[in-house]
Amino acid sequence: MRSRYPVFYPLPLWAPPCGKRNAMTGRRAPYDVTATSALDRLIRRTAAWQTLRDLRRHYEVWRWNRDGRPSPPPPLVKQAIVKEYARRFALRTLIETGTYRGDMVHACRETFEMIVSIELDHVLFEEARRRFAKYPHVSILHGDSGRLLRQTLPTILTPCLFWLDGHYCGAVTARGGAETPILHELSTILSHPVREHVILIDDARCFNGTHDYPTIDELRRAVLNVHPDWLFETANDIIRAHRRT
Ligand SMILES: C[S@@+](CC[C@H](N)C(=O)[O-])C[C@H]1O[C@@H](n2cnc3c(N)ncnc32)[C@H](O)[C@@H]1O
Repeated sequence: MRSRYPVFYPLPLWAPPCGKRNAMTGRRAPYDVTATSALDRLIRRTAAWQTLRDLRRHYEVWRWNRDGRPSPPPPLVKQAIVKEYARRFALRTLIETGTYRGDMVHACRETFEMIVSIELDHVLFEEARRRFAKYPHVSILHGDSGRLLRQTLPTILTPCLFWLDGHYCGAVTARGGAETPILHELSTILSHPVREHVILIDDARCFNGTHDYPTIDELRRAVLNVHPDWLFETANDIIRAHRRT
């Protein structure tokens, strides 16, 4: 069987974003990532690693196009979708739940005037905090996004783009009180006085009523109960909720 990954990448490069038990795809990662080792962190900081990783990301897009654009799309495509929403709705603030390695923050660092990203795992949080320390418009927060969003949103006065992606996915990632805090996050955003937020929820395929995930219909009802005139749709593994344009 043909390998899903090009053979020339060393192991740390081709670990899928959330390693070992892949709750999202049901597939197993090719090797166990049980901790972010010091060596792993060192390698990740090198220019060579970044370059190889960029190459890998572009290869994933090429392969995705070649295979007829199956769902889910690779990270570069999801990042392009987030930036497209920012442009379409003229949004200047990105609020992300689930920072992980900071790839979405990195991809969007020049698109937004302010970025807030919340990560529950302490090691991932520290890594991201260090990575983005030189960007004054980027804040990495440590804690459960279900709770931290409630504390952060009262300071927000303008429409934001929400990228809701904070959930447990095995390996080095954190697990809060539940595998996903999505219903808490959603209720906080929907009760915020600003009514023009745009909500993108990643990994739509997980929302099947198992492992603490509500179904997509439950999410739709939660949104449309508050904003009956909003558009609610799913495409490319991303649930999208916002006013109609
Ligand atoms: C799929 S990864 C995020 C990927 C990242 N958003 C990106 O686009 O590159 C999910 C992340 O959410 C974090 N997480 C899990 N539960 C969380 C919670 N309750 N609050 C905040 N982060 C959480 C995990 O530790 C993991 O790093």
